[in-house]
Amino acid sequence: MPALINPSILSADFANLERDLHAISTADYAHVDVMDNHFVPNLTLGLPVFERLVQVSPVPVDGHLMIADPDRWAPAYAEAGAASVTFHAEAAQAPVRLARELRRLGARAGLALRPATPVEPFLDLLGEVDMILVMTVEPGFGGQSFIDGTLPKIRRVRRAVSEAGLDVHVQVDGGVSRETIERAAEAGANVFVAGSAVYGAESVPAEIAVLRDMASA
Ligand code: DX5
Ligand code: ZN
Repeated sequence: MPALINPSILSADFANLERDLHAISTADYAHVDVMDNHFVPNLTLGLPVFERLVQVSPVPVDGHLMIADPDRWAPAYAEAGAASVTFHAEAAQAPVRLARELRRLGARAGLALRPATPVEPFLDLLGEVDMILVMTVEPGFGGQSFIDGTLPKIRRVRRAVSEAGLDVHVQVDGGVSRETIERAAEAGANVFVAGSAVYGAESVPAEIAVLRDMASA
């Protein structure tokens, strides 16, 4: 399975987001983290900025909503033109209804799980989503270390997807770098979010290529 590399602009220069989106034009998606200071203890950007990022991005936008009440707020991110909208299982009241709404609006629907959230309650609903995001750090900040304890969950998600014969992506987000990407890929992830590893690299395009190679090997 080809590995997708989605750099997170959380590690970009927030005064130069358009420039830094163009720096990742060889990536598969641009990962845009929306944080509301309620679901996570950090605040990034909201819908008006997100809409403009979608308009100027050279690659499709993968929105990661770390917000309370996604049932109310997430559809607008699909309407804004995000290729993919991922909301948190812990925050959603009606995840199936929301996933269906996002798909109806033309976005891929993603369901995110914090490191300590089990996937088992959601396994029967895999057919309702396009992606499961297994958080490999506690959401909220870039630059944290990859939690190896999430690897068994990545494996269980991948096994369930294969057994069901579904084309559901398994994304990992947090602490993904040259040091950790092979472990995540071996466990079954095929979409890799990397913020500090990509934007902190000497050459951003070279780092994207290296990570893609390492994850595809
Ligand atoms: C964290 C965000 C991530 C973050 C990852 O809550 O969801 O997308 O940017 O940053 P790194 O790759 O630096 O761990
Ligand atoms: Zn993210």
